[in-house]
Amino acid sequence: MAMPTSTRTVRVFRYDPSLGGDGDFRKYALDVPNEAAMTMLDVLLRIQREQDPTIAFRFACRVAMCGSCGMVINGKERLACKTNVSDLPPGEEITLRPMNHFPVIKDLVVDMDPMFRKFRETLSFFEPKDASTEPALIAPGAPEREEIRVATDCIQCGCCVSSCTMVDHHPDYAGPAALARAYSLLADGRDGLFQERLNSALPSCHECRTEMNCTDVCPKGISPTRAIKYIQRVGVTRREEKPAEPVVAPAPTEPLERTGPMWKRIDRATFLRHAGVAALGAAAALTVGGVAAVSAIVPKGGASKQWVPLAQLGDLPPGQVTTVLLKYEVKNGIYTQQASTPVLVSRLSDEIVCYKSACTHLGCTVRWDGSSDQFRCACHGGAFDRTGNVTAGPPPRPMDQYDAKVDAGMLLVLV
Ligand code: SF4
Ligand code: FES
Repeated sequence: MAMPTSTRTVRVFRYDPSLGGDGDFRKYALDVPNEAAMTMLDVLLRIQREQDPTIAFRFACRVAMCGSCGMVINGKERLACKTNVSDLPPGEEITLRPMNHFPVIKDLVVDMDPMFRKFRETLSFFEPKDASTEPALIAPGAPEREEIRVATDCIQCGCCVSSCTMVDHHPDYAGPAALARAYSLLADGRDGLFQERLNSALPSCHECRTEMNCTDVCPKGISPTRAIKYIQRVGVTRREEKPAEPVVAPAPTEPLERTGPMWKRIDRATFLRHAGVAALGAAAALTVGGVAAVSAIVPKGGASKQWVPLAQLGDLPPGQVTTVLLKYEVKNGIYTQQASTPVLVSRLSDEIVCYKSACTHLGCTVRWDGSSDQFRCACHGGAFDRTGNVTAGPPPRPMDQYDAKVDAGMLLVLV
């Protein structure tokens, strides 16, 4: 439904190193004109500008690309720039605090060095296998590419590390972010440090208790849990292999067996026999059970499209653009994600047009500005006319639209 102006109370953790102590929460009240079109980063910027210039937080891109603005919002790790106020329970107090497991520098800003140290320890850099100066390509549709596609989107925000209960218990644990990176390199046949990577990553994988907190909070849809299970599986199945052989791993719906440079599918019984799991006892069987479940853990982008109700026609006044918060579930195997996004519903003409609120430049949020009769985005001055065509700034194409239809007075969009 269209969002009216609301007043929200925001509790922000404040810690000043020059004062010492444990820090404390401070409350701010803020009028929010449209909760669906205001991110928590916008909220912080307004608090800083209008009420308290001393408040410290970190951001750079505003479009979920730089990984700077991770924090704990109402108890869950999120990016402030990707969290709309309307994603949070209506009317309730909002609590912002710094991420767990990182030293606090000031207020919401943490020192990310512990995570980057783990990246270093797990050899997070690419080492080409061949001396060739030509680019080593993986075809876009190759199974290997599909295997590593999602994990390469990591922006090192640290949300997964903050959510992981094991990070605090095991100082040597590499943590979910570094292991997701190790996985993307282990699954890349062009890399020349396969055995070294495996040796550095595998011991850490046994610290994971498969709680899936990291998978739950990752703002880029990555499943470090799946990455960890992948590494464990490689550790079990890869016997007497030469370090530099290529690893080409199809999407794992069944256990895999290595034959020469390629993997082939085998049945589960053969896999367990080869891995010697029967002799390893219940603990190892549990591990392999987790490995076999890998394919069901990750969102792999295979969800089919669905029509989702957006609003009753009666709630969308003719002659106006109404911002409506669209909420729906995305299911992939056993994994279900809640998705929400503002939709700009235009009834400026006889036709109803549902515009996506993501700017076609960098994906930041586009708003309707009635005073200038234009859609505008916040980041780089992009503007679109009332039909969605670019009138200013860098957007390369008109605003994207949803397929939409009306059924029994309800407006539905295809997502
Ligand atoms: Fe952030 Fe996801 Fe990368 Fe973890 S895996 S650092 S949550 S983007
Ligand atoms: Fe860059 Fe949020 S500001 S990810």
